[in-house]
Amino acid sequence: MTVFTHDVVIVGAGLAGMRAAIEASRQGADVAIVSKLHPVRSHSVAAQGGINAVINPEDTIKDHEFDTVKGSDYLGDQDRIEVLIAEAPMNIYELEHMGAAFSMVGEGEALAQRHFEGRLGTIDQRPFGGQNFPRTCFIQDRTGQALLHTMYENLLRQGVMVYEEYYTTRLVVKDGVVGGVVALDQRTGELHLFRAKAVLLATGGYGRVFSVTSNAMDVTGDGMAMAFREGVPLEDMEFVQFHPTGLYPTGILVTEGARGEGAYIVNGKGERFMSRYAAGKMELAPRDVVARAIQTEIEEGRGVKGRPYVDLDLRHLGCAKIQERLPQIRELGINFAAVDCLTQPLPIRPTAHYSMGGVPTDVNGASTLKGLFAAGECSCISVHGANRLGGNSLLETVVFGRRAGMAAAAFVKGTALPEVPAGVLETEKKRIGALLDARGPESVPRIREELQTVMFDKVGIYRTEGPMKEALAKARELKKRYKDIHLSGGSLVFNTELIEALELQSLLEVAEVIALCAINRTESRGSHFRRDFPKRDDQNWLKHTLARRKGDDIVLDYKPVAITKYPPQERKY
Ligand code: FUM
Repeated sequence: MTVFTHDVVIVGAGLAGMRAAIEASRQGADVAIVSKLHPVRSHSVAAQGGINAVINPEDTIKDHEFDTVKGSDYLGDQDRIEVLIAEAPMNIYELEHMGAAFSMVGEGEALAQRHFEGRLGTIDQRPFGGQNFPRTCFIQDRTGQALLHTMYENLLRQGVMVYEEYYTTRLVVKDGVVGGVVALDQRTGELHLFRAKAVLLATGGYGRVFSVTSNAMDVTGDGMAMAFREGVPLEDMEFVQFHPTGLYPTGILVTEGARGEGAYIVNGKGERFMSRYAAGKMELAPRDVVARAIQTEIEEGRGVKGRPYVDLDLRHLGCAKIQERLPQIRELGINFAAVDCLTQPLPIRPTAHYSMGGVPTDVNGASTLKGLFAAGECSCISVHGANRLGGNSLLETVVFGRRAGMAAAAFVKGTALPEVPAGVLETEKKRIGALLDARGPESVPRIREELQTVMFDKVGIYRTEGPMKEALAKARELKKRYKDIHLSGGSLVFNTELIEALELQSLLEVAEVIALCAINRTESRGSHFRRDFPKRDDQNWLKHTLARRKGDDIVLDYKPVAITKYPPQERKY
């Protein structure tokens, strides 16, 4: 057991975590990242289609703001949305200067024809859902991967210390002040205390709460659960984004960029059915609208070959365009669905993709707990409200990662190292030791699978009170059963069974909050659609939910939505 000390400890090494680390380090703080994965395996790697910003003179900041507010179904805090959008262009150019090789206007033509007379040298942008201008900058369909590698190179250049393959098991809090984290070195099984003046959570989302998800195995809501256990509220957890085009049957992401480039969605009768749901925007309506449309077609028996999927047809785009702009999804289709999108449509259905909710913070990443900051998907700055626009999450990671890093560095200046509770490491060692010795009858994978299935089936795209209550009861029953789990012991070196057991604690914690908040919100807004309350209800529900743990109970509270320029209107596409 070792005690490490840094000014700022950042938990998580995705884009938000690394961007925050670079900034805090640039400001002179001694920064360390503690990450359960090697940084370039973080889930930001899976973001495909792009990152939004107003960089074309014909586009306007106001349009990007309005699209985001309307996309959020008026739940996004408009003062924060203004910050996100105003700072977007500078962040794109900064990424480019860091080394990100954005796809450029005319690139394909220039390569093909060896000459091109258009806007060469300008970052290209593609249309994305719910936006009135093609403002999504991209790097083929590997934008997240390319940005993640760029960020990692800059992190190394900045000399930030990274403790990789360390699983953070708890936040260390004394007298209402965060003083660090305890983390398990997966290579040895040893627990270590990381003392810090500020802790910044950048742990991503919780997609693995659901049985069908675009999220990697490790996306288990650890940071949210950790903060929640320490009494930090979680905001707007009922809002879970289902991405319309998950590859069938795995749920792997097929980028919205495919529709941006012109792909059609077609049902089993060969109809481009979006004309019935969003005639104005068709396949490029926002995600909540398209996901519901696909789910409706499937539930009403218009899936392809009577199966629970519809088709994403790219064939008319042609080989050159697909190879130039969407090479990864072609590979994914071949490898995971045995379908080559050059010659056959891809089978797709909605897949749990993104959490609009999380740890509430201000625009500088400060949470309600002294010394605790958060950025990226685990946070809720509230720029996405009830439904995020595609391309705004990569943007959020860099805009608010930078701001949170800067604020954390400022916070630690002149701050003394907080005290930590006596014997915290020993207490945690006992807790993990008890888990390692668990020899009950219950299986971790079985509990996880039951949880994922009930959450997907009953707290998914379409929701009603009865089934959601069943899901909540089931989550609580599974939490009890968790007390009797079985671990087989064995080596402490990369004990993935132990890590999965710890991750399951996070999934159970987060699932209970999602279900409770979803039952409580008796309206439909954005991604939260209640069959029993199908209308948006601004009179009663134009407000954010805050869930807080009080012992065994979860208490709900509310806070108002910040409306600056765009009063709520009916949302039509
Ligand atoms: O569809 C996509 O490429 C996903 C992008 C996003 O979630 O922002």
